[in-house]
Amino acid sequence: MTDISPLFEPVRIGAQEIRNRIVMAPLTRSRATEANVPTAMMADYYAQRADAGLIISEATAVDPLGMGWYRVPGIWSDEMIAGWRGVIEAVHAKGGRMFLQLWHMGRLVLPDYIGGQLPMAPSPIAAEGETFAPRPEGDDGLFLPMKPYVIPREMNQSDIDSVVTAFGRGAANAVKAGFDGVEVHGANGYIIDQFLQSKTNRRTDAYGGSVENRTRFLREVLDAVSEQIAPDRIGLRISPTSERKGMGDEDPTALARAIGALCRDYGLAYIHLIEPIASGFMERPDKPVLNDLAAAFGGTVIQNGSFDAETAAMAIAGGQAAAISFGRPYIANPDLVSRFREGAPLAQPDFDYAYVGDRKGYTDYPTASD
Ligand SMILES: Cc1cc2nc3c(=O)[nH]c(=O)nc-3n(C[C@H](O)[C@H](O)[C@H](O)COP(=O)(O)O)c2cc1C
Repeated sequence: MTDISPLFEPVRIGAQEIRNRIVMAPLTRSRATEANVPTAMMADYYAQRADAGLIISEATAVDPLGMGWYRVPGIWSDEMIAGWRGVIEAVHAKGGRMFLQLWHMGRLVLPDYIGGQLPMAPSPIAAEGETFAPRPEGDDGLFLPMKPYVIPREMNQSDIDSVVTAFGRGAANAVKAGFDGVEVHGANGYIIDQFLQSKTNRRTDAYGGSVENRTRFLREVLDAVSEQIAPDRIGLRISPTSERKGMGDEDPTALARAIGALCRDYGLAYIHLIEPIASGFMERPDKPVLNDLAAAFGGTVIQNGSFDAETAAMAIAGGQAAAISFGRPYIANPDLVSRFREGAPLAQPDFDYAYVGDRKGYTDYPTASD
């Protein structure tokens, strides 16, 4: 049997000494208010999971124009800051640590969420597939309607500047709310990823073409964020090999190396790499970039994607990652750390309630000892 004790060793991640190597991955659960304000129910949910070494919050919109998902939280108003303060105080009261994930959806926003306007993106190329539309007035069913993504409008310099400013404001507001740090969401086909990957960035100006140019937007975001919070409290999440929603890059290894090098220059606390080791949430890549990324960065890597306790412990023992994040296992196992420690079986989530509902399928999963 694999020795899983490496999971329970403390580790330093930037400015934080965290008590174990089990990180709660960001999970959008759509339990904010319809006005995108974090709720007391969210504070309960995160506090239940506070014994994770580090919690990364669900994706949190930095700007109304970058928000395209029903009942997700934002971080652009005082009311949102106050809502998040309730969450972080509940997590801190249980000795937990938590970073806020800063998010802008770019082309993945449906016009329905932004007053009928077109969403913005580096290039006017629609994402593949469809997504959740807002709940129509008077509809009280469980499931949300789905609509296809639209062709976004190409961002001009003032759009770019305003999104960069919004990331900086999001970081400043996260500090006001009391978060231990922030994670910049550069993964999963959202705006930063849209600039990074060659298939979604066809620009011919300083933000497109070479890898150097495609990482420019990310560098500007990191400049804005690191003016508000020290780099050893900033992480970056990336998924350079993911092709979901019509993403793709001509050379993910070169892109990963460039991202690693720039994160080293900024002195970021960590890079959070989504690169599944088995197919599940997304496909396992033919050519993983982990080693190239880690060599170029030289700092702390948190790895994610279809891990269990044994594969996570092996990755940590083998030195390929300092910590492993778990997404789906955290939905139905608020006590994931103690279940791993005790070898207790994991509960299976009810995915019907992953992105909709209230307390059911959210705060009502029991611990193994309940
Ligand atoms: C319900 C659900 C919501 C998610 N929301 C986010 C999110 O807000 N931000 C993010 O970066 N990834 C999000 N993800 C991706 C997870 O963080 C993680 O990368 C994915 O589940 C793979 O890890 P796992 O195999 O441990 O589940 C979400 C995944 C699921 C299943």
